[in-house]
Parts: sequence; C-alpha cells; structure tokens
Amino acid sequence: MAFARRLVGECAHMVLVARRKDVLMELSDELRAANSELKVTVVDCDLASQRARERLVQILDALPGGKTLLINNAGLGDYGEYMSSTPKRNHQMLHVNVLAVAELTRAVLPRLVMHGGGIINIASLAADLFIPDFAIYAASKAFVASFSEAIRLEVRKAGVPVVAVCPGPVHTGFGDVARRQGCTNGYSSFKKWVYTSIPTVVNGALDALAKNKARYYPSRRIRLIAWLLRNTPLGLMRLVMGMRPRKVEAMNEQ
Ligand SMILES: NC(=O)c1ccc[n+]([C@@H]2O[C@H](COP(=O)([O-])OP(=O)(O)OC[C@H]3O[C@@H](n4cnc5c(N)ncnc54)[C@H](OP(=O)(O)O)[C@@H]3O)[C@@H](O)[C@H]2O)c1
Repeated sequence: MAFARRLVGECAHMVLVARRKDVLMELSDELRAANSELKVTVVDCDLASQRARERLVQILDALPGGKTLLINNAGLGDYGEYMSSTPKRNHQMLHVNVLAVAELTRAVLPRLVMHGGGIINIASLAADLFIPDFAIYAASKAFVASFSEAIRLEVRKAGVPVVAVCPGPVHTGFGDVARRQGCTNGYSSFKKWVYTSIPTVVNGALDALAKNKARYYPSRRIRLIAWLLRNTPLGLMRLVMGMRPRKVEAMNEQ
C-alpha cells in the first residue's frame, strides 16, 4: 500500500494485488481521489494458489504495452520451530515468498525488456542469515535476494534494473501474521533502534532502483548489520545463531 501511495502521481495505470478485496478497493478509491487520471485495476488473488497466480499472469499479459514496474512485495513469515510448523503455513510461505516472485518476474520480464521499467523484489535482512525458529522465512528471502541478483545480471544490457530490498524490522502487520495461534510471544521484541520506517523503505527502494543498485538495505544501521553478517566467518555465524535465545520454548509453554 505504501508503494502505491508513493507512486500515485507517477503512474498511468496501477494493478493492485492481494487477497483482501475490500482493502484493495478502499486503496483504489484513495488513489483515484489523489489522481483522477489514474487507472486502477484491483485483482483479489491468493498468491499461494497456483491457479490464482495463473489467472493473475493472464491479466498481466492482457495489459497494453508500456513502461512497467513490478513490485513483488507480498510475503509472510512464521515464528516458531520448524518441527511444530503446519504444512499449510509452509506451503503459503513458499508459494507467496518464492514461487509468486519467480513466476511474476518471468511473466513481466519480456515486457520490461521491450518497453522498459524495472523490478523491486522485497527480500529481507533475513536473506543473509539462517534463523532458527524462522527457518523457511529466512531461506525464502535468501531465494529472493539470490534470484534478483541473477536476473539483474541477465537483463542489465537491456537496461532493466532489478533491486532486492532487504529491510530489517519494520512496523507493519507482518508480526501479527507471523505469530502462531495461541502464542503471544514472537520476534517482535527487537530493539527499537533496529526498526526502519515504511517511508524510508519505500523511498529508498525507489531510489535504489533509479540508481540500478543490486541490493538496498534501508537505514545505516541495517547496512552496518548486513556488512557485519557478510564479513562474519560461517563457523562464527553458526555459533552466534546457535546461542540466540529460543523464544519458541517460552511460546510452547504458554
Ligand atoms: N515488516 C517487517 O519487519 C519486514 C522485514 C523485512 C521484510 N519484510 C517483507 O516486506 C514485505 C511486505 O510485508 P509487510 O511487512 O508489509 O507485512 P504485512 O503488513 O503483513 O503485508 C503483507 C502483504 O502481503 C499480502 N499477502 C500476504 N499473503 C498473500 C497471499 N497469499 N496472496 C496475496 N497477497 C498476500 C497482504 O495482503 P492480503 O492479506 O490482503 O492478502 C499484505 O498486503 C514482505 O515480503 C515481507 O516479507 C517485512
């Protein structure tokens, strides 16, 4: 939503995708009120469903040619140990965080090469880590970052920028979705100073795209953490991640 609001004056046509149609319709009205020239297409689509993704690709294929920006923003997590995770949530994470990103990128790339535009893929600082009790999420974001880097190199001669955005914690609905039912605890207890604001992420991502950067870590602090992660030997990393407090145990006791 924040990307849509930020880009409202810069687009002729926006395609909004999520499951909650009422939320999308409200956003659409808000965007059109801000820019009466804007055409908005609302697609209520569960990106975890293969069939729904195919329908979305058909809708995208039918759009008239023109400069296009794809923002793969939808994503979800699951706080807790893998052993007690549900197959349904794991399926959702892998389909939304991984398959949807790959399939939508594939669907729009020919259009981007022909007419120009770019791709913003929302990964995470977690892309640089393996995280106990957040295993699939971190691995799915590692996919997004690696995939984005590779595609960027494939299309760079065509002048199509692709950026992987790797935020640390941001105050959104993410934590509530990731928290397991019946658990009041999670990883929402990050220190205040690591949080980044939504406008910082959105403005920085668009700026990084304009500068054709491969990755964008919002805020100096997150960039410093990312730098430390990249420069930490794997063995030390395993030691540190192994010593990380397992909040899951507290969650399971509740
Ligand atoms: N918040 C953080 O701390 C943080 C940090 C690093 C990276 N990220 C990444 O940032 C991105 C945005 O997340 P957020 O923080 O804004 O979380 P959020 O508030 O929970 O928003 C998630 C968005 O994804 C959509 N979505 C979720 N499942 C979907 C599905 N099956 N099909 C279609 N749309 C779906 C949601 O809409 P519907 O529910 O209506 O479908 C919602 O618009 C994600 O990729 C997340 O991994 C977040």
